Amino acid sequence: MQAVSTLLLLLPTALAATAPTFKAPSAGPLVASPNYVGTSNSTLPKPTIVPGKHFDRFIQIWIENTDYASAASTAAFSDLAKQGIALNSYYAVTHPSQPNYLAAAGGDFWGLSDDNLYNIPSNISTIVDLLEEKNISWVSYQESMPTDGYAGFNFTSNNYLNSSAPPYTYYVRKHNPTIIYDSVAEVPSRAALHRNFNDFAADVNASALPQWVFITPNLVNDAHDTTIDFAGQWVDYFLLPLLNDTRFNDNKTLILLTFDETETYTVNNQIYSLLLGGAVPENLRGTTDNTYYTHYSSLSTVENNWSLGSLGRGDTNKTLNNVYSVVASTTGYVNNNITGAAIPFTNATGTIPGPLNAELYVPFTAPDVNAVGAGGGKVFVAPSLNVNFTAAAAPAPVNLTALGQTVPAAGPINGTSSGSGSAPAPTASGKSGAMRVEVAAAGILAALVGTAALFL
Ligand SMILES: *[C@@H]1O[C@H](CO)[C@@H](O)[C@H](O)[C@H]1NC(C)=O
Ligand SMILES: *[C@@H]1O[C@H](CO)[C@@H](O)[C@H](O)[C@H]1NC(C)=O
Ligand SMILES: *[C@@H]1O[C@H](CO)[C@@H](O)[C@H](O)[C@H]1NC(C)=O
Ligand SMILES: *[C@@H]1O[C@H](CO)[C@@H](O)[C@H](O)[C@H]1NC(C)=O
Ligand SMILES: *[C@@H]1O[C@H](CO)[C@@H](O)[C@H](O)[C@H]1NC(C)=O
Ligand SMILES: *[C@@H]1O[C@H](CO)[C@@H](O)[C@H](O)[C@H]1NC(C)=O
Ligand SMILES: *[C@@H]1O[C@H](CO)[C@@H](O)[C@H](O)[C@H]1NC(C)=O
Ligand SMILES: *[C@@H]1O[C@H](CO)[C@@H](O)[C@H](O)[C@H]1NC(C)=O
Ligand SMILES: *[C@@H]1O[C@H](CO)[C@@H](O)[C@H](O)[C@H]1NC(C)=O
Ligand SMILES: *[C@@H]1O[C@H](CO)[C@@H](O)[C@H](O)[C@H]1NC(C)=O
Ligand SMILES: *[C@@H]1O[C@H](CO)[C@@H](O)[C@H](O)[C@H]1NC(C)=O
Ligand SMILES: *[C@@H]1O[C@H](CO)[C@@H](O)[C@H](O)[C@H]1NC(C)=O
Repeated sequence: MQAVSTLLLLLPTALAATAPTFKAPSAGPLVASPNYVGTSNSTLPKPTIVPGKHFDRFIQIWIENTDYASAASTAAFSDLAKQGIALNSYYAVTHPSQPNYLAAAGGDFWGLSDDNLYNIPSNISTIVDLLEEKNISWVSYQESMPTDGYAGFNFTSNNYLNSSAPPYTYYVRKHNPTIIYDSVAEVPSRAALHRNFNDFAADVNASALPQWVFITPNLVNDAHDTTIDFAGQWVDYFLLPLLNDTRFNDNKTLILLTFDETETYTVNNQIYSLLLGGAVPENLRGTTDNTYYTHYSSLSTVENNWSLGSLGRGDTNKTLNNVYSVVASTTGYVNNNITGAAIPFTNATGTIPGPLNAELYVPFTAPDVNAVGAGGGKVFVAPSLNVNFTAAAAPAPVNLTALGQTVPAAGPINGTSSGSGSAPAPTASGKSGAMRVEVAAAGILAALVGTAALFL
């Protein structure tokens, strides 16, 4: 009995100790790791460089669910800021995660307010269409994704943080924006450009990094299931050495380190973002840029840099699409001066009608084909797009939920059972990490109780 009560007294300490601590998933970002399931079978071909006006390569890295002040006060981020430009008026576009990622690929979040499984129809364009029109190479690197072109909802693999714990879901599709669009997922050559971190190592080692790069760390390294300090340790492990490696970062590389959304829903979604890389001139390193940006700015900046066409959505909305000043000053692009009360609230969740909002459903519509974006090119028109079915021609929003229906784009993927299930109710916080820590803790508790039983 004595042993049991002593153990029970020790439990709070044991529980506290289960908060995951950072462990490098590999010996280095350019070293293949058995902690990643899929080995690399290939490297991409060395890209033919299409020169941009300010940069030749754009890399974005997304961390999760953190308020501006929390990131700004974390040493890994404030130290990095000395090497780049801090964007201190940069906002996510809604909550929770998935719609923000979708926005960065497609210029809209489609009214979405959950993280369920969707397949966006193939006549809906993305940044991939704009890049490929100009033969600009692109790739999406997803840590802990098992196979190239994997379209599954999530993936669970050995728990490398704690080998005695059950396997862990490190990869989720909701953070892999381009695979959610069928115009990408259903084209095998495009699907294959969703690659894991063993492929990343192979590609960089082969000096074959494409020109447009989306990087998603896994659910522990991106702070989703952990803390901003954990993610900071990952940034130090992953990004610091790569900043010194010209196969990743050369003097024509611009890197955006950003967050999907704030942790707190009741503030206006201001997220911490840095521009890094050799395309940041020396005299701007360690400075701040107060220009108002959103996730659509990553689209319009890329469009501006390479004189691309546009998607005719958020990427052409003059309120939301400012081009990063460091680029705009090279290209001569004039941004909108949006400050103070003119900054829109972009923290609304579930109240925006759209094709992925079951309570305020409107079908997917054609973009405004007359819109002009920062690249000056034409709005991309997919072959099967009905350009006449515009937002103005769409019917009023319908409450499908009240009719017992879901939106047509809701999963599952081609009839597999992996997928959406019922939507968890939106909560005041985007983090699901606490729950996962509890699960791990419960395992340790069970182990301790088991040990206690031996003492009896
Ligand atoms: C892209 O590459 C294809 C095939 O090499 C070529 O026919 C086409 O002209 C190129 N397009 C541009 C915009 O360079
Ligand atoms: C490499 O090929 C093997 C065998 O086909 C496969 O199991 C593995 O998942 C592939 N790796 C990737 C990253 O697709
Ligand atoms: C879904 O199924 C269709 C028809 O069978 C197929 O053409 C398409 O490639 C599949 N898409 C994915 C993402 O597997
Ligand atoms: C990168 O290079 C700088 C100076 O060139 C050096 O101070 C720093 O230690 C290097 N960082 C890493 C992680 O190698
Ligand atoms: C940029 O890097 C290239 C290749 O290393 C070099 O030739 C060029 O001089 C560099 N330009 C500047 C402005 O540093
Ligand atoms: C959005 O943020 C504003 C400013 O903090 C706040 O007043 C508002 O309640 C928030 N909206 C939602 C839906 O949380
Ligand atoms: C552009 O975005 C602003 C802010 O969200 C919105 O009020 C406005 O309606 C949008 N304009 C168009 C043309 O969609
Ligand atoms: C932007 O607008 C603010 C508020 O109206 C004003 O104080 C500021 O001078 C303007 N900045 C520029 C660069 O025009
Ligand atoms: C997209 O394609 C689907 C299937 O062909 C069609 O029903 C829908 O009307 C199209 N939407 C637009 C906006 O063209
Ligand atoms: C769109 O409208 C134009 C002009 O009314 C018409 O010529 C064209 O056939 C329509 N296209 C479709 C796909 O309905
Ligand atoms: C849609 O219908 C559901 C179920 O009847 C209801 O709970 C919800 O409030 C409705 N939403 C809107 C926006 O009317
Ligand atoms: C992973 O997907 C399954 C359905 O395939 C779902 O039940 C589970 O909740 C998902 N887990 C996470 C962490 O997304």
